[in-house]
Amino acid sequence: MKVLVIGSGAREHALVWKISTSSLVDKIYAAPGNAGVSQIAQIVEISPDNLSELEKFVRKNKIDLTLVGPELPLSMGIVDLFQKKKLKIFGPVQKAAAMESSKVFAKQFMHKYHIPTASYQVFQKFDEAAQFVRYANFPLIVKADGLAYGKGAFKVNDDEQAVDVLKKIMLEKIFGESGNQVVIEDFLQGEEVSVMAITDGKTILPLLLVQDHKTLLDGDQGPNTGGMGAYSPVPFVDQKLQDTIHDKILKPTIAGLKKEGIFYQGILYAGLMLTSSGPKVLEYNCRLGDPEAQAVLPLLETDLVEIVQAALKEKLDQIKLKWKTGYSVCVVLASAGYPGDYQKGKEIKGTEEISEQEVYCFHAGTKISQNKLVTAGGRVLAVTAVGKTLGKALDKVYNAVDKIYFEGMQYRKDIAYKATEVKKYA
Ligand code: AMP
Ligand code: GLY
Repeated sequence: MKVLVIGSGAREHALVWKISTSSLVDKIYAAPGNAGVSQIAQIVEISPDNLSELEKFVRKNKIDLTLVGPELPLSMGIVDLFQKKKLKIFGPVQKAAAMESSKVFAKQFMHKYHIPTASYQVFQKFDEAAQFVRYANFPLIVKADGLAYGKGAFKVNDDEQAVDVLKKIMLEKIFGESGNQVVIEDFLQGEEVSVMAITDGKTILPLLLVQDHKTLLDGDQGPNTGGMGAYSPVPFVDQKLQDTIHDKILKPTIAGLKKEGIFYQGILYAGLMLTSSGPKVLEYNCRLGDPEAQAVLPLLETDLVEIVQAALKEKLDQIKLKWKTGYSVCVVLASAGYPGDYQKGKEIKGTEEISEQEVYCFHAGTKISQNKLVTAGGRVLAVTAVGKTLGKALDKVYNAVDKIYFEGMQYRKDIAYKATEVKKYA
């Protein structure tokens, strides 16, 4: 069969790589992919937000299945469009994707269905939000309602900081329309983990738990980014806690959506804070996490296309996910300046030297220019290694990272430190 993968990041490279191992797949297309993806898929120069061109391409080329990496096309209704045209696509419809594209919708939903989350207020007017923070207890988290590429949440420690952030979001509109409303919520303390589940709307198959590293610098310092690295599974989350996450969060979420008349098919991602009073949802995403996918997919033994096909037939109950034993660690290599304005066009050296088994060099912002591999984005590469222990995976991944160089390359040297230093599981 022919499969199209939409998106251009390292998550999509990992997806393309994973489906390239499926015996069901003859040909993979990627719109628009990147230099790494172009090694295993045919590049299609259509932007992920150009839904009508994507639909035309799929019809014309008789693509059998479309997989969507990023949230934007999902929130624009690509699944609704494809379903209307009887084209096979896996992901949530636009109404369901609102779980990610509107934090207000997600918070109100969680409140209605008693899904544990931080207490919150919603504001449409700057003056009212500014008035609220004058008498509030701090710290608080201020979030833009709409999509903001993982950069729309701010911790504020006093009313001055809060008003500053509110001004940026609601008046200066640094995230555009996404800042028409804000959520102000309590700051939760604890360990953060991500759970991603595949669902056909009835059965929920959670993938291995994974921990992202959101901030730029070691020790969880510096600004928030799209994610600087991840590891999986998370050794300090035991089966009992995993069951709680399933019973108190995933299950009621899918059931609640159904009650709202929303049939959720696709990937449901919940960003969780493991607090002293149990796991609480920080956010929902309607797709695989990046870099979570790059950590989790190399551990998945089951054929992903088989899983997706079963989900599309609402027969996910017949699938049992099989995982490799051991751990994976993913380290993101970013351009100088990221997550702010970053440099581009720097030659990337050393990727061809990575040849060890179960080490993967997933590309994000890369392209070929004058026969050279060069940087073309903020996050450039996501290097993943699988090992029998977390320590072995860490050794392998940082050995591989040591071989790679581009000017201004920055990365975290402490991925998985919560498990190795703090929790002593290496
Ligand atoms: P979000 O855009 O909602 O995923 O938030 C981005 C990041 O901000 C999360 O991954 C957390 O690190 C942090 N965050 C969001 N909400 C909270 C909260 N209520 N308490 C503490 N940290 C939070
Ligand atoms: N790594 C967080 C996300 O994909 O939203």
